[in-house]
Amino acid sequence: MTICYFTATGNCLYVAKSIGGKLLSIPQLMKTEQFEITDKAVGIVCPCYAVEMPMMVREFIAKAKIQTDYFFFIYTYGSGYGEAFCHAKLAAEEAGLDLAYINAVKMVDNYLPGFEMQEQIRTLPQKDVDGQIKKICSDISARKQVDITVTDTNRQQMEMYSNMLAGPILKRTTAQKYVIDDTCIRCGICAKVCPADNITVGDQVVFSDHCEVCYACLHNCPMNALHIVPEQSSARFRNEHVELKDIIEANQ
Ligand SMILES: Cc1cc2nc3c(=O)[nH]c(=O)nc-3n(C[C@H](O)[C@H](O)[C@H](O)COP(=O)(O)O)c2cc1C
Repeated sequence: MTICYFTATGNCLYVAKSIGGKLLSIPQLMKTEQFEITDKAVGIVCPCYAVEMPMMVREFIAKAKIQTDYFFFIYTYGSGYGEAFCHAKLAAEEAGLDLAYINAVKMVDNYLPGFEMQEQIRTLPQKDVDGQIKKICSDISARKQVDITVTDTNRQQMEMYSNMLAGPILKRTTAQKYVIDDTCIRCGICAKVCPADNITVGDQVVFSDHCEVCYACLHNCPMNALHIVPEQSSARFRNEHVELKDIIEANQ
């Protein structure tokens, strides 16, 4: 089994590792242009962004040449995923892939403009993350099939959410609105965790115009010097089973 994953704060890396198999980082596959993936089972594990998927994951699926008998898709999310399953189904279909199984794991919501991280972490045990993952692992082992039909109503909802959420939130220029405070020591970690190579650190931290809006830079800054306005939380988050070096290794 091969799992292609995208992660900013470690939730997806934890889920991908828990499912097992060979793990491939989507940012690295994109950078090295490795698109041919062949295995008995191939899965995507990625966060839900604005009730869709990260822009880079969508692009990866369109470019990848995946050959498998069992293609599955797992989102991690924090509060709600709207029509995200339909987005996965359509992205797979457009790439000529039959989506055999899809599911989602509810975890900490790392969306800083909407959620307070300490509260998210405090209430995490109620989500029984390991119980959710166990169920998914057993479904995948049994090669369970889940049929997603995209109806006209789904399409209308997708368009509505897209105008309301994805349009305003998932913009490649978003990083230009990030604020760097004077605690920044220009250690360069923001650049190392950025999956899009969007940050350059010299005398100053400079953001380019191809941000993935994943917030890896904001959450993994050791000085907590990076901010988005508005943010509901001065606290930051990284999955408790994942270390900074793992995020760097995944995204550098
Ligand atoms: C820009 C952005 C948009 C998000 N949109 C949603 C969303 O629509 N629904 C949701 O439940 N969680 C949303 N989240 C939360 C993430 O999906 C969730 O925290 C995920 O587990 C993070 O995975 P990671 O730790 O592997 O990066 C969003 C996060 C970001 C950064």
